[in-house]
Amino acid sequence: MAFNPSFLPISIIDEEHRGIHRAVVSLMESILLGSGAAKVLESATNVQQLTLQHFKHEEALLGELRFQRLKEHKEDHNKVASVLERIIGELESKDSSAALRSLREYRKLLLVHLQQEDEQYRDDVNRYAAEHGISPLPPRIRHTIPEE
Ligand SMILES: [Fe+2]
Ligand SMILES: [Fe+2]
Repeated sequence: MAFNPSFLPISIIDEEHRGIHRAVVSLMESILLGSGAAKVLESATNVQQLTLQHFKHEEALLGELRFQRLKEHKEDHNKVASVLERIIGELESKDSSAALRSLREYRKLLLVHLQQEDEQYRDDVNRYAAEHGISPLPPRIRHTIPEE
């Protein structure tokens, strides 16, 4: 998939990051509050779809920029996506305590990815934005990475 900045603004990357994080928090709440299995699964599928769509957009943008660490970046995306896959499986087999554990792991991996890996392309993206006369990436909102 080619990234077309006139069709998809660069700010989408930041909006997607926020959207995924909101969806993760809402899934966590839904599990903790003991929502029905169907609702929890729907919420988890939403997190998965948002995440995978975002990875696709971001990888297309990084491909367009010829980002040097694209291969490693994709590998990290795949690692994050595989935890989501596991969470869906755990929810399908109604193991909500395992799903909650995996979700905490997912959130931590995601935050580390956003704050370390996704920061590495900022200069390249902003150079590209300047060359194309489009707005740069807004500064990242920092979340505390959970210990454990
Ligand atoms: Fe990324
Ligand atoms: Fe990202």
